[in-house]
Amino acid sequence: MDIPQERKLVTEIPGPRSREWFERRDTAVPRGVANIHPIVTARASGAIVEDVDGNRLIDFATGIAVLNVGHTAPEVVSAAQRQLELDTHTCFHVTANEPYIELAERLNALAPGDHEKKTMFANSGAEAVENAVKIARKHTGRPGVVVFDHAFHGRTLMAMSLTAKVMPYKQGMGPFAPEVYRLPLAYPYRCPTGGTEETCAESCLAYALDEMHKHIGEENIAAILIEPIQGEGGFIVPAPGFIAGLAEFAAANGIVFIADEIQSGMGRAGRWFAIEDEGVVPDIVLSAKSLGGGLPISGVTGRADMMDSVHVGGLGGTYGGNPVAAAAALAVLDKIEAEGLLERSRAVGGTIDGRIRAMQDRFDSIGDVRGRGAMRAMELVVDRATKEPLDGAVMSALGSAALERGLIVLTAGTYGNVLRLLPPVTIDDGLLDEGLGLLEEAVAATAG
Ligand SMILES: Cc1ncc(COP(=O)(O)O)c(C=O)c1O
Repeated sequence: MDIPQERKLVTEIPGPRSREWFERRDTAVPRGVANIHPIVTARASGAIVEDVDGNRLIDFATGIAVLNVGHTAPEVVSAAQRQLELDTHTCFHVTANEPYIELAERLNALAPGDHEKKTMFANSGAEAVENAVKIARKHTGRPGVVVFDHAFHGRTLMAMSLTAKVMPYKQGMGPFAPEVYRLPLAYPYRCPTGGTEETCAESCLAYALDEMHKHIGEENIAAILIEPIQGEGGFIVPAPGFIAGLAEFAAANGIVFIADEIQSGMGRAGRWFAIEDEGVVPDIVLSAKSLGGGLPISGVTGRADMMDSVHVGGLGGTYGGNPVAAAAALAVLDKIEAEGLLERSRAVGGTIDGRIRAMQDRFDSIGDVRGRGAMRAMELVVDRATKEPLDGAVMSALGSAALERGLIVLTAGTYGNVLRLLPPVTIDDGLLDEGLGLLEEAVAATAG
């Protein structure tokens, strides 16, 4: 359904109908399932979300990086509708389906590297992570998985164990899966090993390699798992060279190098996969979120021999690679190709970068701006010299100030002080500009 691509506020935010629904929600749904914004969606299209009160908001959140091609993209909707009428589910393990196989072929061709690849599908990002760990362990016969500070890999038991931040993701929900080792990430703005922005990659890499050698043992490590640009961790772009150094170490020691591109992939960072800009070919790459254009599907794409190291029946699940979701994903890939959306992502990112750098000149509270393609963020601080993170209450006031003006944004980061921008890459220039203007007003009103 098409909605005019225009912001329109007809009630205060949240409006009366959203408030009514939230009263029912509070009775019916546990509080652990958080709601970031107190509004209820009626419909969405392109870069606009319309709530149940008829307000039309500009969406810079896209369901947490799921709608790179825009809400209810007509090509995606019709592909899913067509498939709905043909076959909704027979279970790939029982009788296979064409969209699953075709999507596997497409991802095998798109993933970095010209070696032979294979792809399996699951339903969520966390499940893709779980499967990648299973495959790496089976392939290497080793238990250890190395992950990094600020990482987010999901909420199931293994994925939660791999995720860094304790509150809210892990608190009170242990014991966690064993054989998970966490190392500092080369975070240029806050180098954890005492480096400067320039030396951060080198000092964190030296620390990581030493730690893996001395305290874990290369021969015990099945996988190194990293987000090429962190998502929930605050859009941290690891210092240049850090990822390549880890990949080199992995290759030299028979360790499976896994890129978690669940948030950064499918054009978000201006490439099919963000790791392309690191000059690294991962052994396994994970996709989800924007792959399905709103339908739940995730993929694990890896070297054919690694993927085949698991015996028949060792991988899969009832719904993995559901034909409706797979058909939608094929339409997403077609749309990205046909409309040059990787290039568009870089153009959108360039516009955002220019605007948020200008905001940084205006507001001392913006300590850092970073990202690639249309995956951009700003990190807010109390004081640029100490880099003390801006208080959570101010961050949430900023989010509310944006929402009241008709703009949906998200925060992120271990300290909750990163404002991340995830508009659809299909957003038109006028709406993008308007959204960035509203963001600037919201910063001025709360954190200026
Ligand atoms: C990098 C990354 N990995 C894994 C996940 C987990 O995905 P899901 O929420 O679909 O399980 C996410 C979700 O935010 C993510 O950003």
